Amino acid sequence: MSILVTGGAGFIGSHTVVELLNAGEEVIIVDDFSNSKPQTLEAIKKITGKDFKFYEMNYLDREKLEKVFEENDIDSVINFAGFKAVGESVKKPLAYYHNNVSGCLILLETMKKYNVKKFVFSSSATVYGTPEKIPLTEDCKTGGTTNPYGTSKLFIEQILKDLYTSDNSWDICILRYFNPVGAHESGLIGEEPQGIPNNLMPYVVRVASGELKELSVFGNDYDTPDGTGVRDYIHVVDLAKGHLSALKKLDKEGKGLFIYNLGTGTGYSVLDMVKAFEEITGRKVPYKIAPRREGDIATCYSNPAKAKEELHWEAKKGIKEMCEDSWKYIQKNKNKI
Ligand code: WQD
Repeated sequence: MSILVTGGAGFIGSHTVVELLNAGEEVIIVDDFSNSKPQTLEAIKKITGKDFKFYEMNYLDREKLEKVFEENDIDSVINFAGFKAVGESVKKPLAYYHNNVSGCLILLETMKKYNVKKFVFSSSATVYGTPEKIPLTEDCKTGGTTNPYGTSKLFIEQILKDLYTSDNSWDICILRYFNPVGAHESGLIGEEPQGIPNNLMPYVVRVASGELKELSVFGNDYDTPDGTGVRDYIHVVDLAKGHLSALKKLDKEGKGLFIYNLGTGTGYSVLDMVKAFEEITGRKVPYKIAPRREGDIATCYSNPAKAKEELHWEAKKGIKEMCEDSWKYIQKNKNKI
């Protein structure tokens, strides 16, 4: 029995495939390389010493997707396919809704047709909009998303809830990621944002490497200890492991629709991250204070207790590994990115 991983060549997808292969699972990857590279697949093989089946295709291609289900004995699906750039989603809402929502619908319809009903979905803390309380628990209200990317995640969560209500033989796990950072400790796979990065950590790394001049810290007048935004950064390898725990839950305890926060439960400010990065790598990260970024909130971090209790999962890697591994990846891949 195999696990189908859509978007398996992407940042979180590739790290999850590594963990699945290391755990002895059979994996099938579907990816169209729209925001990833073929070399990532080679790197996964190098890290794990294991092979997997790969289909280069867009998951919106129903005919090809059906062929994947026909040719393989698929037991469960983890869906990482989707666009994820917040700013771009504001400019291209139709592309985001089409790829993220329609793509997921086609995937679910195909699963239904082939009677595969175990599904793990990559959602985001962004579905909480402006947090009702901090730390965020899974029962906090959702909604009030400020961009099509976030709204696409919210829509898919609703679709999954409605699907489960209509047919409770589905087993669904929705994972709400906080802020994924870091890279595999081998330095062979990591995050490769196209163009100038929007997210903090990839930006910091490129300033430290001299590729970008300085970091703009978006606001230092928030109601936080040092005035800069506070987030729950989580190492991508911890996040990847959370997916294995989710699958285990669906396999062993099964039957239901479950929602979990995947975060560390600790909030770090922008300046905390800059300082830690400088200390750990010995590099300077020049920065200036800039105006607040539209749509940003002051503080967002998780209460990860539910995942700990029910998935027996918790994040193990701290800020040191997050900085070290992000840095190692860019050092190793400087000329390739
Ligand atoms: C973190 C903090 C910024 C860049 C976004 C998406 C979310 C998820 C993860 C997934 C904030 C500050 C940032 C910079 C800065 N998306 N910052 N200068 O906004 O919490 O979450 O990424 O795919 O859905 O919304 O993450 O890394 O952009 O920002 O000062 O150049 O760093 O203001 O306080 P965010 P981020």
